[in-house]
Formats: sequence, structure tokens, C-alpha cells
Amino acid sequence: MKIDILTVVPGLLESPFSHSILKRAKEKGLFEVNVINLRDYSTSKQKQVDDYQFGGGAGMVMMCQPLADAIDKLQENQKYDEVIYMTPDGSQFNQKLANRLSLKNNLLIICGHYKGIDERIRQHYVTMEISIGDYVLSGGELAAAVVVDAIGRLIPGVLSNETSALFDSFQDDLLAPPVYTRPAEFKGWKVPDVLLAGDPKKVDEWRTDQSLERTKERRPDLLNE
Ligand code: ADE
Repeated sequence: MKIDILTVVPGLLESPFSHSILKRAKEKGLFEVNVINLRDYSTSKQKQVDDYQFGGGAGMVMMCQPLADAIDKLQENQKYDEVIYMTPDGSQFNQKLANRLSLKNNLLIICGHYKGIDERIRQHYVTMEISIGDYVLSGGELAAAVVVDAIGRLIPGVLSNETSALFDSFQDDLLAPPVYTRPAEFKGWKVPDVLLAGDPKKVDEWRTDQSLERTKERRPDLLNE
């Protein structure tokens, strides 16, 4: 999978994909992320990318020209499955959408800044708009990093034990069960006996029960869905 990210603050995306699971995915050639500086596409001398909004009001708007030229140029070399705009008024990102996007080959993600991007770019270029939650970040970069991380770890071969993603929270609308590691007793706090007894069927049943309990307690809305 190849993901291109268009941003005015490329420095914000230097580190998130250079560690741990995603770093290994890149090294294995399963995953590629390119961060592209939108300013490189501005035709103005000052490399301007934003301007005042028509109708007045506080806050700048990202201009059509650099965005349209950047997307046109990128699309000359690359057909994208989706052109995604990160915005608080987009569809709420969740595990289902992460699963769906992890099956794509090529994505372009546009990070907004200031008041956002000119509406005409949304109408004519963007195919999907994503929010990571009901709060406003200072730009789309951290939101894009969240989405890319969630997608990247689902690409087949990225996780060392491929099945482990299947048991993540939300994969089946349930939260994950509790997990324990050695020692079996710490400060007098014991690991549940069933996990030590070596009966895989009983362990599975216990995990399912725990998942259901946890979901009922913490996220009953998931069960209603
Ligand atoms: N840009 C600013 N806030 C955002 C959010 N909550 N989700 C996605 N992109 C954003």
C-alpha cells in the first residue's frame, strides 16, 4: 500500500511512521508513506497557500491553486483509490473504516489547516472526508497520522502474528478482554486461574465473557449497534 500525504507542515509527519510496527512494515516493503509539501506547488513568489475568506470572518482558507496543482500532478503518476480530506466535519473514523481502507492500494490524504480548504477542492477532488473525533485539532496532520497508523497495522503481513489484529478491540464490535503476563502473582495480585490451567477452550470462553462484560460496562452503545 502506498499513502501520499499533502501538508503545509511536513515536519509534523516525520516521526510517526518511523518507529515500531510501521517502520518494520516499510522495511519489509509492505507499506510506503510519502509526505508532500503543499508549498512546493504554490505558484506565488511567497509560496502562499492560504488567503482571506470571501464574505469576511476570522481565519484563513487554503487556496485552490496549490491544492489543485498538487493533486493534478500527483494524479498524473498515480491513480488513487480515495482522495481523503481530514476534517472535523467528516465521517467519524472507526475500526470498520480502517479495515476497509487497509484493502486499498493507493491513498492520497489532504491535511487541512487554518479554517480548512476551499470548498471547491472538496467538491471536485475529494472522494472521502474523515474526522477522528468531535474536537478540533490545529491541523489535519495528527489526524492523518492516526488514520495511517490504524490502517498500516492491518495490512496483511505487517503484524508478526497476523491473527492478533482480529482480536483487537472493535473488530467484532466488542472491546478486547484483559491481558496478563508473567509473573503469575505480583504484590499478591493473581492472574485468573483459567489463564494458567492450559485449557484453550476454557480460555476462549473466558475471553469472550470478559469482552462482553467489558463492552456492556464501558461501551453499551457498541452492543446496541
Ligand atoms: N482537523 C482538525 N480537526 C480534525 C479532526 N477532529 N479530525 C480530522 N481532521 C481534523
